[in-house]
Amino acid sequence: MKTVDVCLSPELIHHYDLAHKIVVVVDILRATSCITTGLASGVISITPFESLDECVAMKSKGYLIAGERDGQKLDGFDIGNSPFSYMESKFDGEKIAVTTTNGTLAIEKSKDANLIVIGSFLNITAIASFISGLPDDVIVFCAGWKGHVCIEDALFAGALVDKLIDYEYVDDSVYMARSLYIQHKNDLLTFVQKAGHAKRLRKFNVIKDIEFCLTLDKYEVVPIVKDGVIIPA
Ligand code: MLT
Repeated sequence: MKTVDVCLSPELIHHYDLAHKIVVVVDILRATSCITTGLASGVISITPFESLDECVAMKSKGYLIAGERDGQKLDGFDIGNSPFSYMESKFDGEKIAVTTTNGTLAIEKSKDANLIVIGSFLNITAIASFISGLPDDVIVFCAGWKGHVCIEDALFAGALVDKLIDYEYVDDSVYMARSLYIQHKNDLLTFVQKAGHAKRLRKFNVIKDIEFCLTLDKYEVVPIVKDGVIIPA
């Protein structure tokens, strides 16, 4: 039987053996929700960078540059980190380089995986069907916030686990995430409003992104990382 595991923070990822596994990276608020929205809205590819300087250097290679630090858009960048900015039709057919506080770091830390998939509530059913059709074991990797566990990523992990039929659960974190999701699935927004990053975003007056990032199955795109670049599967 295939297995599924949940890593709740990048600080724990060294305990997991990623080789031969599918790693589903999730940063609901907002990096992986943005990536999903961008690819579903006509962006050709999104190249993630942990380092700000490496991302900025892509500008001279014809890329648009996107990203944030501590939730706020960076000076000189073309795009911030709101899913709504990734929907703009002027970005159709463009290649984007992106760096974010936690999301792109988690993608970087997944590089030993057999396959990296980018997950969000926006495409959760498409992700579940895609990975269910593959033979590999799965690790859901929550990007969290600077090493801390986040409510919204743990809820996604539980929701995804709940959709995976006939998988054996590995760590306690799988049961924990699923129970958390089941407890809150009828009103994710109320619970996510308690999340540290939701509070942070509200302080910057970023309100509508939170609700949008909890929308289920808006898109069918399955973003995967191929040779360091995120493209639709
Ligand atoms: C991150 O990668 O830390 C986030 O996506 C931050 C944000 O909400 O912009």
